[in-house]
Formats: sequence, C-alpha cells, structure tokens
Amino acid sequence: MRADGLRWIGAAEMAAPRFDAAMAVAGVFDLRDPALAGLPTLPPTASDILDEGRPLAGRRDHFRARRALTRHLLARWLGRAPENVVVAHDAAGAPRVLAPDNGAFVSVAARGPIAAIAVAATPIGIDIEPVETPREPVWTVLHRDERAAIAGAWRDGDDAPFRDTWIAKEAWLKALGAGLRRDPAGVLIRRDGKSGFTIVDNSDPRQLALSALRTVAMGDATIRCAVAILAAP
Ligand SMILES: CC(C)(COP(=O)(O)OP(=O)(O)OC[C@H]1O[C@@H](n2cnc3c(N)ncnc32)[C@H](O)[C@@H]1OP(=O)(O)O)[C@@H](O)C(=O)NCCC(=O)NCCS
Repeated sequence: MRADGLRWIGAAEMAAPRFDAAMAVAGVFDLRDPALAGLPTLPPTASDILDEGRPLAGRRDHFRARRALTRHLLARWLGRAPENVVVAHDAAGAPRVLAPDNGAFVSVAARGPIAAIAVAATPIGIDIEPVETPREPVWTVLHRDERAAIAGAWRDGDDAPFRDTWIAKEAWLKALGAGLRRDPAGVLIRRDGKSGFTIVDNSDPRQLALSALRTVAMGDATIRCAVAILAAP
C-alpha cells in the first residue's frame, strides 16, 4: 500500500533505482539537464516514431527525450526495468500504461525542452505554463463563476489567477483522459490558496483525490505546474 501524498522530484532523483512509497510522483524537468544524461538510452518505440511527426509534437530530440524519460520515471515508480515499460496512447491521445501491469497512470506536459511528468496509482493529469510578462486571460475558456476574480486581478495587471485556473483545468481534463475535447469553460476551478484547488464538474462524476500547484525555477525560466489526481479509475 502506498502512502498518501504527492512527492515532487527533480533530475537528481532519477538516479535512484526506485522512489519511496509515494502515492504519486511529479517532476518538471529540463531535458537538457546533465543529471539526466546518465540514464540508459531507450530507443524510440514504433508509436513514438509515428507520433513524433504530429504537428504539435515539437522538436524530435525533445519529443524522444520526453517519451524516454516518461518510461524511466514509470520504471522507478513501479520498481521495474524501463525496457519493460510500455506506454501507448488511446484514441483521444491520453497516455496509457500497458506493461508491466495496469496499476500505474501517467500524464505529461511539455514546452520545448521542458517536460512535466506525473505518475500515480489512479488517473493523474499534469499541466504547465511559463511565468512570463503578464498576458490578457483567454476569457472563453473560463467558467462564468471564475470570471469576476480573474478580471479583478487582471485590472491590476496580475495574470497569475488565470494561469493557475487554466493549468488546473488542463490537469483535470487530462486526468479524465478528455483533454481539450471537453470545453474547459464547463469546468469550475476553485483555487485553494496558491498551492491547491478543487473542481466542480457537472459533466463527470469522478472525484478529485488530490490537487497541487507549484512554481519551479528552471534556469532562466519559471514554470507553474498543476497536478490533479483522481480518487479512483
Ligand atoms: C491534451 C491536450 C490538452 C494537450 O495540450 P497541449 O497544450 O497541446 O500539450 P501539453 O504539452 O499540455 O500535453 C501534451 C501531452 O498531453 C497528453 N495528452 C494528449 N491527449 C490527451 C488526453 N486526451 N488526455 C490526457 N492526456 C493527453 C500526451 O501525453 C501529450 O504528451 P506527448 O506529446 O508526449 O504525447 C490537447 O492536445 C488535447 O486535448 N487534444 C485533443 C483535442 C484535439 O485532438 N484537437 C485537435 C488536434 S489535431
């Protein structure tokens, strides 16, 4: 039985053969980090080679490194060899762990050489956005009950409430396996301080077991990350 909680990891922890008994692990990685260079090379799978041609896949070297790191992270969480970890993608694009067993769930987000990866015993979603010069919120993705607070912050030039709301929505929709096939405006995020959130989603009965929001410094970049973990498959 795994202990409760989400454990945040970094590149240095990838040197360990196995993570301790966390219910879930998540990390935001710079794929160029020398600490990751020591990981055994995993050749791309047939589906990686197929997927890396998609318009949104990004640079091939980043894509392959992200897919390989996903298998390494799953292997450490499962206590198995990375060569034996098989991840496929369903018709909606959601990653599914096929082997060594079906007891692990994984989620991925990427932006260039930055990859966020999360693994848990129940469905999990992760999303990231860089913290940059404030940009006007995308009003159409917001639930009507989110708008007033986000508009109030934006009048003061603060886009952080929008960023957190947006990545929380994407993390939730990834955990459900729907991604943006669902209208994000149909999901209400209630931010719970700066480190968590709750969800009101009248279109899906599944429950949130754990949420997290975290800021990660990556060299010159600052990345905001959201994780949503479902209570049950
Ligand atoms: C899931 C989705 C929100 C990802 O958004 P994004 O900002 O492009 O990409 P992110 O970096 O946040 O996430 C990428 C990861 O999302 C994951 N993903 C894709 N679809 C997913 C889904 N339905 N559920 C959960 N995760 C999904 C993949 O693991 C992908 O990682 P990979 O590139 O290593 O395969 C988005 O791609 C989506 O919903 N797509 C479905 C809608 C669609 O297909 N539109 C038309 C495009 S052709």
